[in-house]
Amino acid sequence: MPSFALHTYGCQMNVRDSDLIARRLRAIGLAQAETEDEADVVIVNSCSVRAKAEDKALGKLGLLCATKRERPGRVIGLTGCMAARLGPDIFTLLPHLSFSVGPRAQSQIPAFVTRCLETGAERLAEFGVLDAPPETPEEARADLARTAGTQRGKAADHADGEQTVTVAAGPAQSFVTILYGCEHRCSYCIVPSVRGEEQSRCPADILTEVRAEAARGVRDVCLLGQSVMRYGQARFQWPDAIPSPGRYTEPLPRLLEYIAREVPEVARLRFTSGHPSGVTPELVRAMATIPAVCPHLHLPMQSGSDRILREMRRGYDSATYLDAVRRLREAIPDIAITTDIIVGYPGETEADFEATRRVMEEADFDNAFVFKYSPRPGTPSSLLPDDVSDEEKCRRDAVLLVDQDARGLRRNQAWIGRTVEVLCEGPSLRNRARWSGRSPQNKIVIFEPTDAARPGQLLSVRVTDARAQTLYGEIVTA
Ligand code: 5AD
Ligand code: SF4
Repeated sequence: MPSFALHTYGCQMNVRDSDLIARRLRAIGLAQAETEDEADVVIVNSCSVRAKAEDKALGKLGLLCATKRERPGRVIGLTGCMAARLGPDIFTLLPHLSFSVGPRAQSQIPAFVTRCLETGAERLAEFGVLDAPPETPEEARADLARTAGTQRGKAADHADGEQTVTVAAGPAQSFVTILYGCEHRCSYCIVPSVRGEEQSRCPADILTEVRAEAARGVRDVCLLGQSVMRYGQARFQWPDAIPSPGRYTEPLPRLLEYIAREVPEVARLRFTSGHPSGVTPELVRAMATIPAVCPHLHLPMQSGSDRILREMRRGYDSATYLDAVRRLREAIPDIAITTDIIVGYPGETEADFEATRRVMEEADFDNAFVFKYSPRPGTPSSLLPDDVSDEEKCRRDAVLLVDQDARGLRRNQAWIGRTVEVLCEGPSLRNRARWSGRSPQNKIVIFEPTDAARPGQLLSVRVTDARAQTLYGEIVTA
C-alpha cells in the first residue's frame, strides 16, 4: 500500500484542508506514512501570506524534489495558497514537482496522485495547475460520508511571525470551514487573490461536518473563515447548486445558535478570524448567552494608527476598534481577546508605531501575534516603497513582544486562584510528564495528570501559577 505524508504551513484553514486531503487519500487506499522519509507521496500545503512562508515551502519542496533522483517514482505535490499564486510558474522553479493544485481544487488531488502512481509519470504537466470551482455539493457530501477523520492538526502559536503548523493527533479540538475566500480588500493581503471570492457554506453541510466531528469525540470546534463574521452575507454561496432560498442567509449568530442546539455534544464553539465591523450587538449577545460559545475572540487590529489603518483599507479606526473591544468586555467580562499586528507597513513612522503601542495597551490584549510587513506581489501596498528597514521592523516587533509579554503575564496572573474548565489535550510538548489543555479562553493550561485523565476530557483545574502565554494548575477533585 503506498503511503503519504503531508507538510502544512499557514493558517488553521490549511490545517483543516490538510485533514480533508488526508481523509481523501486514505479513502483511495493510501496509508499515512510513519515518517516523511518513507512516504511515497508527499504533499506540501503552502501559505503565501508572507514571503518567508513561501521561502520555507519552496526550500522544503526543493529538498523533496531532490530525493526523486534516487526515487524517481516518488510523487511530490504542492497545494494551498502558493499553488494558486504562482500558477504554472511553479514548474519553472521546480521542474520535478509532480503536480500543483490551488486551494479551491483540492478535491482533485486523489485523482492526480492515482495517475502519478499508476503511470509512474515524472510529472503530470497536463494537470499542472488547476483552480477549478469548488466541488459540487454531492461530491462534498460523498467525501464527508466516506472519510472518517482520524488526524487533526493544531496551528502552532505563530508568535515569531511565521505560522508553521505542527500536525498532532488529538481529538479534542478541530476546525470546520464555514466561509471560503475573502471579500475585504486590505491593501497588504494576498488572500483575496489566492482564495477567491467569498462563499458561505450552507448550514446543513456545516452541521453534517460538525456532527461527524462530535461523533469521533471532538469537543471544541472552531468555525473558520478568513473574515468569519461575514458568514451568510456573501454574494456567492457554496454550494450554490442547491436551490433553497433562505438557507444561506444565516448570519453567524444564528449559525452559532443552530450548531449549539443541534450538536450539544460539542461543548465549545469558537470562530476565527474576526473583524470589528462584525462585532454587532447580535453577535455580542450570542457570545454572551450561548453557553457553548467560548469567551474568546481573535480580532486582528493590524495597527493602532488611524492613518495606517486608512492606508491599509481596514475600514475602521482605532476608536471603532476599541469600542468593539469595550462592548465585548462589558457583555463577557472573562473574554480573552487576541490580535494580529503588522509592523513596518510602508510609511509607518515612529509616531504611528507609538500609536499602535498605546492602543494595544488600551485594548489590553491577552495575546498578540506580530508580523513584519512583507510586500506581496499583486497587492496594492506592494506598489508602495517598502521603506521601513528590516532592522527597524525587527526592533518594532521586539518592542511589541516585550510589551505584550508584560501585559499577558499581568492578565494571566489575574487567573491565579480561580478554577477553570480545561479541555484536556494530552502530554505537554515540552514535558511529557505534565499534560496540557485549553481553558474556554483558549489559554494553554499545564497540569499534573491523574491516572484517570484522558484527552478530550473536561477537567476542573485550579490555577496556581501563570506566565505570559501559559497557566499552570492542579486538577480539582470533586
Ligand atoms: N505582511 C505581513 N503580515 C501580513 N499579514 C497578512 N498579510 C501580511 C503581509 N503582507 C498578517 C496579518 C494577518 C495575519 C494572518 O498575517 O496580520 O492578520
Ligand atoms: Fe496563508 Fe492566508 Fe493562505 Fe492561510 S489563507 S494559508 S494564512 S495565505
